[in-house]
Amino acid sequence: MKLIFIGPPGSGKGTQAKRLASRFAIPHISTGDMLREAVADGTALGQQAAPIMASGGLVSDDLMIGIINDRLAKSDAGRGFILDGFPRTIVQAEKLDGLVGNGEEPLRVLQLLVPDDAIVRRITLRRTCASCGAIYHLENNPPANDSVCDRCGAEVIARADDTEEAVRKRLESFHRQTMPVAAYYKSKNVLREVDGIGPVDEVFERIEKSLA
Ligand code: AP5
Repeated sequence: MKLIFIGPPGSGKGTQAKRLASRFAIPHISTGDMLREAVADGTALGQQAAPIMASGGLVSDDLMIGIINDRLAKSDAGRGFILDGFPRTIVQAEKLDGLVGNGEEPLRVLQLLVPDDAIVRRITLRRTCASCGAIYHLENNPPANDSVCDRCGAEVIARADDTEEAVRKRLESFHRQTMPVAAYYKSKNVLREVDGIGPVDEVFERIEKSLA
């Protein structure tokens, strides 16, 4: 399966993509996670991306396409993959078509629908494990022990871009730059829309049904 998750910030792409990747035993490729790793490692890419991400803007298409090109060339992606956070612009979508669009397995695209007014609360109460990337929510799914990850015991923190101000900017870029990507895939008849409101298990069931 070659699957793309599209959705606004905080719509549950990471939460659902991790589950689906483990169900199908294919890699979950999150460009946000890859960038955050580069920031944590202090690489040249990370230094370039950090201020853009913290302000809620988008990293340049050239950089992102280079990252995805390298990642999809790795052998584990040959079995299929779930892309989370890419493509986010029409330029990225067209480039991805050139990279993988002609294979036997067609690209499938799943759009998670969550209205803007639900997003800010989800994001400002999100906590993420600094080590394994597990995703929590202080109300819906808190770690058992305050700021310690249930899965690996590392510290659970708020992301640098999870401020209300940055979230509003991320939402604005989603509507302006990424909604046209959803329309692009709709016109190719490969897009399925899934309601992202409701308990995580219910949303997962809807996703499984829509992929069946
Ligand atoms: P990225 O990491 O991709 O961020 P995003 O798209 O803004 O999405 P999020 O990770 O914030 O949310 P999510 O949809 O994964 O939701 P989650 O499952 O965590 O990108 C970050 C930045 O990197 C970008 O702003 C940009 O600067 C840069 N970047 C990345 N890719 C790029 C690209 N291709 N081009 C250019 N720049 C790029 O869930 C959110 C919260 O809600 C959690 O607390 C979770 O527990 C909770 N939750 C999940 N599901 C539910 C539910 N059903 N009900 C209630 N709560 C729920």
